[in-house]
Amino acid sequence: MADTPDTEYPSPLRRLGTRLKQKLPGNGNGGRPRSLRYAHLIGWGKYLPEKVLTNAEIAQIVGTSDEWIVARTGIRERRIAAEHESTATMALSAAREALETADLNPADLDLIIVATASPDHIFPATACLVQDTLGAVNAGAFDLSAACTGWIYGLSLAAQAIATGSLDHALVIGAETMSRMVNWEDRETCILFGDGAGAVVLGPSRKPGGVLSSVLGADGSGGDMLSVPAGGSRMPASPETVSNHLHTIHMDGRKVFRFATRVIRQAAIEAVEKAGLTMDDIALLIPHQANSRIIQSAARGLKLPAERIFVNLDRYGNTSAASIPIALCEALEEGRVEPGDRLVTVGFGAGLTWGAAVIEWMAKPPLERPWRSRLRSVLYALAGVRSRLRRWWRQLETWLFRPPAARP
Ligand code: UT7
Repeated sequence: MADTPDTEYPSPLRRLGTRLKQKLPGNGNGGRPRSLRYAHLIGWGKYLPEKVLTNAEIAQIVGTSDEWIVARTGIRERRIAAEHESTATMALSAAREALETADLNPADLDLIIVATASPDHIFPATACLVQDTLGAVNAGAFDLSAACTGWIYGLSLAAQAIATGSLDHALVIGAETMSRMVNWEDRETCILFGDGAGAVVLGPSRKPGGVLSSVLGADGSGGDMLSVPAGGSRMPASPETVSNHLHTIHMDGRKVFRFATRVIRQAAIEAVEKAGLTMDDIALLIPHQANSRIIQSAARGLKLPAERIFVNLDRYGNTSAASIPIALCEALEEGRVEPGDRLVTVGFGAGLTWGAAVIEWMAKPPLERPWRSRLRSVLYALAGVRSRLRRWWRQLETWLFRPPAARP
């Protein structure tokens, strides 16, 4: 288990007791916070597809060059999902890794949020596909549409639900298959995006720390600056929408660039002030990985030196809602985050949306517990069996209990 600061919730028996107590009449929180609780990040995981697409390879598809892409964006390569992969499969892999570091079983989850702009379907929600495959039988699940800011929106909602006592454990995933959303003939967009997923598990603690503050913002008047025009109810799919590439990303890059440089700085400062801190208290800024020039401009505005900013977009490009949780995982792997460090995550994206969250990192490196990992593997296998049985049972039910024919 990630050696979390929370000693009040780790035991499954205690969790069961807490659950049962909440179900008794007169118990629960009666709409009020039970007591002051903090939402800590207790698990983290990421998934990146194997296939690497370099700038040089893109230059063979559209009129661009490695030099142009590196100079204007900082991106050198990105990952592309294999044919058998989708947003749900990548989200699932990141989720399993996050449950592993949290040493939590899927049945302990109360909520699953998948922030994505490239869901498997309009519905059912990708989060429900993840819920089923994980076997998270006690969790509610929904997708969150706030484009590249989605993971911060999800983190903020989950943290508040935990702090008020309305739930205990939440899985917040950012997952994207952007390679299937871009027009591979449009050099202004296809060079930017990549695929991947990142996830965190949040849990309650009485110890101060975890998600200290968050700010969320939106300005729908800029919706046309970054959009996928067709495929929704306003412009349903038709042969014309397909041939005109209206199901792919349309972007006014310069306008988005200006919006981003302004809003990153502003959102980060607001979140830090809301947490009662100053920028000097921040060990690491983890910004949405869209363009190195945007990140550098934000760094200048925030007066942060390069070593206090995490950048990995050279290897993955812009993975939209997945970019911040992937970057957080890599920052941890590289030893850039220590217990007690305060981090600012900040994002912006289509909508327009933006947001920032200040996190006080309290989790210690996870301990190896092989038998618990094996137990989880068994639980995942059982989840598959359960899912199939439920499908068969539904089929059988419709066959056995046909509704009586309507009387003439
Ligand atoms: O998650 C949010 C997602 N979106 C973003 O964050 C995007 C923010 N915007 C950007 O990152 C930048 O605006 C871009 C990277 C998209 C473009 O960079 P730019 O420095 O703003 O370039 P530009 O749009 O001002 O274009 C400069 C020139 C143009 O040629 P002319 O009109 O000066 O002759 C473009 O046609 O570069 C040309 N160009 C390219 N050349 C080679 C545009 N894309 C390319 C390309 N390769 N891929």
